[in-house]
Amino acid sequence: MTDELQRAQNNGADKAAADEVTDAAAIEQLQQSDISTTEVEMDLRLANHIEKEAGAESDKVKIHVADLHKTYNGRLEVLKGISIDVTEGEVLVIIGPSGGGKSTFLRCMNGLEEITSGTVEINGANIADKKVNINKVREDVGMVFQHFNLFANMSVIDNLTLAPVDLKKATKEEAKKTAMKMLERVGLADKANVFPHQLSGGQKQRVAIARALCMHPSIMLFDEPTSALDPEMIGEVLVVMKELAASGMTMVIVTHEMGFAMEVADRVIFISDGVIQEEGTPQEVFKHPQNPKTQDFLSKVLEI
Ligand SMILES: Nc1ncnc2c1ncn2[C@@H]1O[C@H](COP(=O)(O)OP(=O)(O)OP(=O)(O)O)[C@@H](O)[C@H]1O
Ligand SMILES: [Mg+2]
Repeated sequence: MTDELQRAQNNGADKAAADEVTDAAAIEQLQQSDISTTEVEMDLRLANHIEKEAGAESDKVKIHVADLHKTYNGRLEVLKGISIDVTEGEVLVIIGPSGGGKSTFLRCMNGLEEITSGTVEINGANIADKKVNINKVREDVGMVFQHFNLFANMSVIDNLTLAPVDLKKATKEEAKKTAMKMLERVGLADKANVFPHQLSGGQKQRVAIARALCMHPSIMLFDEPTSALDPEMIGEVLVVMKELAASGMTMVIVTHEMGFAMEVADRVIFISDGVIQEEGTPQEVFKHPQNPKTQDFLSKVLEI
């Protein structure tokens, strides 16, 4: 477990240890106590972001979306022409009001939702193409949801080995080895044999992240991974996600944790009414939003 993760865990339980935390962890703590983010915090986060490891990204397009439309039941048009490319190692954060189509967009990216029209390519494979094996594509795209969706009747380790063994990606032995490695990565190696009900919300979500990583995806999609968590558990999940971002994982994250987004996002898009209303660096979108809809949304979410 990393020092930072350990510190984040301690933040919830041990007030004395909290006195010794670094700037970054202190910000996290602030965020845990209140979802709103002050301008000073945002500046600190921007500074952190600028320090983010350079050179992690390449020009290789991992996700290509062109003029994506999605209509439910033939009448409710939720996505009205979304176009975006996500390159290898990039962290794209999606923000926007409830009902704007963020989850629908994520689900379209891993084939959970049938596309009405337009193109979605994952690693060059068009997922609407009947000749493309959607299950193979999906193996490369890990997804983490708001509600952890762990199997309650299975231990943590069994939750982690289920898909790799079932899909014949690994033998039981290999899958166990990988699972332990991933649990170590999220700081939960000691929880391998417990059942989900014996875990806190933050721990469940870290297990869900470890489970997705067991398939060795090259892309990770997150749909509001911290919004169902008690405030004191948000930090530990964000730390795991930050480490994943620093490791060069291509990530698309729907989140309302603006401070976190400020720190890890390479690019932010604001989706509302089924279209990308605004797109830019965290600095551009959060500090200098141009679109009145973005301004209105941010003024409700941020204390600036
Ligand atoms: N399976 C479905 N069938 C019909 N309508 C749906 C379905 N899933 C979502 N919708 C509708 O599509 C619209 C966009 O929903 P979506 O869940 O993508 O929004 P969101 O931006 O993720 O919102 P939130 O921030 O609340 O999660 C909503 O009006 C929703 O009611
Ligand atoms: Mg949603």
